Amino acid sequence: MQAEGMFPTVRLRRLRYLPAVRRLVRQVHLQPEQMILPLFVRPGRGVKKEIPSMPGHCQLSPDLAADEVRETGRLGLGGVMLFGIPEQKDPEGREALRPDGIIPQAIRAAKDAAPEVLVITDLCFCEYTDHGHCGPLCQRGGRTDVDNDATLELLGQQAVVHAQAGADMIAPSGMMDGMVGAIRKALDAAGFAHIPILSYAAKYASGFYGPFREAAESAPHFGDRRSYQMAPASRTEAALREIQLDLAEGADLVMVKPALAYLDVIREVRRRWPEVPLAAYNVSGEYSMVKAAAERGWLEEKQIALEILTAIRRAGADIIITYWAKEVAHWLAEAPP
Ligand code: PBG
Repeated sequence: MQAEGMFPTVRLRRLRYLPAVRRLVRQVHLQPEQMILPLFVRPGRGVKKEIPSMPGHCQLSPDLAADEVRETGRLGLGGVMLFGIPEQKDPEGREALRPDGIIPQAIRAAKDAAPEVLVITDLCFCEYTDHGHCGPLCQRGGRTDVDNDATLELLGQQAVVHAQAGADMIAPSGMMDGMVGAIRKALDAAGFAHIPILSYAAKYASGFYGPFREAAESAPHFGDRRSYQMAPASRTEAALREIQLDLAEGADLVMVKPALAYLDVIREVRRRWPEVPLAAYNVSGEYSMVKAAAERGWLEEKQIALEILTAIRRAGADIIITYWAKEVAHWLAEAPP
């Protein structure tokens, strides 16, 4: 007698012969509306400055960023995430609080160009401080470090500036303790109780941010970010604790970052909170290493990018912030993988 559930009764290849069947039984889908496009904005008009370590991405002045926002809408993407490169930097990152600063200018330009496109703003101080850390500094135990509680106050103010300029969603990325609660309180007090917070809840001190720091001119001038971002060697459960706290403080959506080396974290967060919208940031290094290998002819960019993004979705992310967002829309329109 033939054992049930075994060859030759069972032939898994039956579902793989025909392209039409393969398409039918595809289980993990990529859709343009799940993709968020990061944009780097700098002051000026008609400015388009290439970012050498991120081929295909540029620092743009608000007018040209607005064109990208329009394109984002045309392609049916989920929205844009704005990063600002200010004219001036100082120890506190004061420029980040100006109502006519680079991010408010970019938000207004985006909303003039395509009001229906979702505008998310990255909320942090590392682009605005002259030392490149994510908030003002203080001395703690004989070491220079970011002043957590002073940063909270400033984050609240920056969030309100973004909301007043028309941001649809605020995404704090500084990994300060209590940041979500502080931002929620500040937004609510200013009449923005309806603005959701997408927290960079589990963000690791990662080498994969290298190209971004060139793009955003935000590399720390001394030390690193290990006193506030998570240790890559911490257990997956450490990320769950971060997420749990941010949810308790009022985060509406949560993010795991980077994505590719942290698929286990994405998986666990999805399992534990199936009801919470989960984003993953397919970060600059994940993008640039594929670009670099593709330029040498070592990898095929489209195939690899779609495979990576599919893996991130399979792990459980609903939303992906990716530098490939526009390409994904084009690739999916050509022929779904
Ligand atoms: C910090 C921030 C960083 C990224 C997004 N927000 C860099 C950092 O923590 O140094 C990295 C994104 C990427 O690498 O694509 N505001």
